[in-house]
Amino acid sequence: MNESTEAKQKIMLVDDNITNLTVGKHALSESYDVFTIPSGQKLLKVLEKTLPDLILLDIDMPDMNGYDIIKIIKKDENMAKIPVIFLTAQSDATSELEGLSLGAIDYIVKPFSPPLLLKRLETHLLIEHQKTQLKNFNDNLQSMVEAKTRTVYELQNAILETMAELVECRDDITGGHIERTKNHLSIMVNEMIKHEKYKIEMDKWGDIELVVQSAQLHDVGKISISDAVLNKPGKLTDEEFVEMKKHTSFGVEIIQKIEQKSSEKEFLHHAKIFAGTHHEKWNGFGYPYGLKETGIPLQGRAMAIADVYDALVSERPYKKGFPHEKAVDIIVEGRGTQFDPDLVDLFLEIHEKFHEVDLEYKEELKRHSEALENYVKPTGLPDWLLPFQGQQEGA
Ligand SMILES: [Fe+2]
Repeated sequence: MNESTEAKQKIMLVDDNITNLTVGKHALSESYDVFTIPSGQKLLKVLEKTLPDLILLDIDMPDMNGYDIIKIIKKDENMAKIPVIFLTAQSDATSELEGLSLGAIDYIVKPFSPPLLLKRLETHLLIEHQKTQLKNFNDNLQSMVEAKTRTVYELQNAILETMAELVECRDDITGGHIERTKNHLSIMVNEMIKHEKYKIEMDKWGDIELVVQSAQLHDVGKISISDAVLNKPGKLTDEEFVEMKKHTSFGVEIIQKIEQKSSEKEFLHHAKIFAGTHHEKWNGFGYPYGLKETGIPLQGRAMAIADVYDALVSERPYKKGFPHEKAVDIIVEGRGTQFDPDLVDLFLEIHEKFHEVDLEYKEELKRHSEALENYVKPTGLPDWLLPFQGQQEGA
């Protein structure tokens, strides 16, 4: 006797012969919750309300035969998963093959032996249970892999962002240039993608968010520029300017070194384009390659506007930041010489959003300065150091 308090599995036994239904129910009802159903049409009605764990289906029935019914069941999204075993007096190989090819999992010839029927059912239900467990396990594994990938992606971004900020700290006393140009570029690309002429090119880029993230490394080559040049408060001499311009090629070299050590390709490919082409000019007088017009990758042409806008509105040791309107005028003056004329037109449609990013940053800077003025030296140790203190005492 089954003492289990768990709900029994549901079996639907479908046969037009009342004797078969009675014998089948008798054989199975101790172990299963058995529904006896006298026709295919009634089965379909019952299935609208409840789904069993398995169906035992007679083939030869007067209204709809077993083949017609299994076709309907296998086409239905909810019912298709229910395992079906055919019960039939036909024992020839052709009928058996037809039943199995329609999606039945087994074929039991009548008259059946009740203990054998029970055994076959147990085996099939166990297999189905294990299939479900395997699927759940695979689904869980998939989500675990996705979560891990996301964590690695976030860590990669955090490290690259910090690396870019560290490089920037050397020549930008107010900081935030990397973050702001990333935001300006994001505004540009989100507008560009609305235009068919850019969309075709941008569709080849892959993940746009990744492209914007990679722009953070555009000035990474400044790590190789001497402090004397990088932090010079006044205008650079011709020689110093030649030295300064090398940050583009140095940036490309640094990213290529990372490329050699990594199997990641997409992010670094775009990072290299940004580093190597953000100082190219539409008229061919930019550096380091002297590329011209659409020979400059679209990423570099867009970044040129984002980068120059931020340089113009930001304060430097040797200059005050220009007002937004003045920065817009200077960019318009460079239309068709320094900058891609169509991208300047596009910039003019969205320049207010650039202004918002700048104002927001300046507000934050003000809050930060106030916080520094009111800085109070912390008393006691930070929380993350507390667990080590017990160890020290016990040592
Ligand atoms: Fe640069």
